[in-house]
Amino acid sequence: RGADRPRALYVYAIHTRTTDSTRTTRRILVVFEAYPRSAIKVSLHEACITFHSSLMSSLERALSYHTQQRAAFKEALFDLLRIPSISTDPAHAADVRAAAEWVKTHAIACGMNATMIETAGHPAVYAETPPVAGRPTVLVYGHYDVQPPDPLDLWDSPPFEPVEKHGNIYARGACDDKGQMFMHLKAVESWMKSAGAPPVNVKFLIEGEEESGSAHLPALLKQEQARLAADVVLVSDTALFGSGEPSITTGLRGLAYCEVTLTGPNRDLHSGVYGGGVDNPANALARLIAQLHDEKHRITIPGFYEDVLDLSEEERDTYQRLPFDEQAYQDALAIGATRTEEGYSILEATTARPTLDVNGIWGGYTGAGAKTVLPSKASAKISMRLVPNQTPEKAAALLEAWFKAHVPPTMKLSFTALHGGHPALVDLNAPALRAAAQAMEDSFGKAPYLVREGGSIPVVADFKHILGLDTVLLGFGLNSDAIHSPNEHFGLDRFHLGIETSIRFMARLAEDAA
Ligand code: BES
Ligand code: ZN
Repeated sequence: RGADRPRALYVYAIHTRTTDSTRTTRRILVVFEAYPRSAIKVSLHEACITFHSSLMSSLERALSYHTQQRAAFKEALFDLLRIPSISTDPAHAADVRAAAEWVKTHAIACGMNATMIETAGHPAVYAETPPVAGRPTVLVYGHYDVQPPDPLDLWDSPPFEPVEKHGNIYARGACDDKGQMFMHLKAVESWMKSAGAPPVNVKFLIEGEEESGSAHLPALLKQEQARLAADVVLVSDTALFGSGEPSITTGLRGLAYCEVTLTGPNRDLHSGVYGGGVDNPANALARLIAQLHDEKHRITIPGFYEDVLDLSEEERDTYQRLPFDEQAYQDALAIGATRTEEGYSILEATTARPTLDVNGIWGGYTGAGAKTVLPSKASAKISMRLVPNQTPEKAAALLEAWFKAHVPPTMKLSFTALHGGHPALVDLNAPALRAAAQAMEDSFGKAPYLVREGGSIPVVADFKHILGLDTVLLGFGLNSDAIHSPNEHFGLDRFHLGIETSIRFMARLAEDAA
C-alpha cells in the first residue's frame, strides 16, 4: 500500500491436492509490480502459468491436457466415425480394414507403439505404451467395427456423417463402441503428452469383429497370450445406470443365437386351392414359437433353467434399492405395459434372468399388397440371453432338441446355431474394481452403483478363461443412446467424463499398486 511501495500485480492462490485427496497444499504466489506494467504483463503471466504447472501433479497435468484438447479430441473421433466399418457385411471389408489402419495410426500419434494383428477374419489392432517394469498393466479392450445402419430412412442425419446436436454426437458407432474405446486412447494421449507416460502400462486390443460375433478372438487370445499379459482388462462397451448416475457393470448376459427353418410343401402354393389340406410352415412355426413360453413367461424347454444361478437375497435387495422409474421406462419405449418372468422386477428380468426372443421371422409373401400364397418355408432367428452358469452350447443344443421333439410330421426342420457367448460375473473383490469405483467417484462426485447389465460381451468370459484376467466394465453409454438402432448417439459430456475417468483410473490403479 502507498505510492512508495510496489503494488501487487497478480495474486495467485494455488491449491494442489494429492491424487488420493488426503492432503491439500495451498501456496500463494504474489507477483509485485516492479517495472512499467505494460512491459512485463505477458511474461509475468507466463511465468505464473509455468510456476503453476510446476506445482501441478502429473494427474492434474494429464487432466488439464484433456481440458485444453477437448475440441481436437472430438474432431478426431468424428474422423473415425466417418469410416463405415460394418463387420458383418462383406461389401464393407475394405472399410473395416481402413478403420483398423486409422486406429493403429492414431494410437501411434497418441505416443504408443501399435501394430495390426491379422486374423482369419477382420484384423485387430494392438497398441502399447512404452513398457515400464514394475508398474501394473491394464489391457483396454474395445471394438472399431459397427452394426449395419439399416433402416437408413429412419436416421435424421446420415449414419457415417457425424454431427453434433443437442450436446450429442450422432453417428453409427458414436457410443458402441468407437466413441467409448476412443476415450481410453485419448486418456493415454493425455498422460503421454503432459506427463511423458501414464503411471501404469497400458495395452490396447481393439478388434473388428465384435458386432458379428468375435469369431476369431478366442484363437487370437490364445496365440497372443504373452503379448496380452496384463493385471486387469478395462472395457467401456456398457452403459451408465442413468444420466449422471455413475455405475460399474458387474455382470453381463451370454448369448446363444440360432436360426430355424420349417419346410412344408415343395413350393409356394395357391392358398385357396391347397389351404385347409396342407399344413402351413408359417402357421406351424408360430405354433411352435408360442409354446416356448408358458403363462408365467417362463421358457418351457426342459432343463433350460437347470444351470441358472439364482439371485441371492442380498442381490435382490441391492436391485430393490436402485432408483428405477417404471413409468419412464414404458414412456420412453411407448409401451402400455411391461412383461417379465413372473416374480421378477424389470431390472432383474433384463439383467439376471435368461430370455428367449425371436429376432426376426419370415416366410411366404412379405411384399406390398396381397398375394394369396401358402408358403413352402418359414424361418425365424432366435436369441437366448443366458446368465451364469448357462452355456451357449447347452442352450442351443436344448433348443434344437426341443424343436426336433415338437416339429409336426407335416414339416422338415433345419436348425443352425449361429453364434454365442458366455455370460460373465465380475469379481467384486478385484482390486482394480476399487480403483475404478474411486475414479468414478472422483469424476461424478458420487459413488457408482454396482449393477448387472443385460447385453453380451462374450470376450469378457474369454479373458477370464483364456488369460485368467478379470475385467472392469466402465461404460459411459446410456440405454437411450440407440445403439444398434437408427440415430445412435453419444453425449459429448459423457465422452469427456469417460476420458477424465480413464485418466483418473490409471492414477488410482498406480496408487493402489504403490
Ligand atoms: N456393447 C454391446 C453390449 C452391451 C450393450 C453390453 C449394452 C451392456 C449393455 C455389444 O457391442 C453388443 O451389442 N454385443 C452383442 C453380442 C454379440 C455377440 C453380437 C449383443 O449384446 O447383442
Ligand atoms: Zn459394443
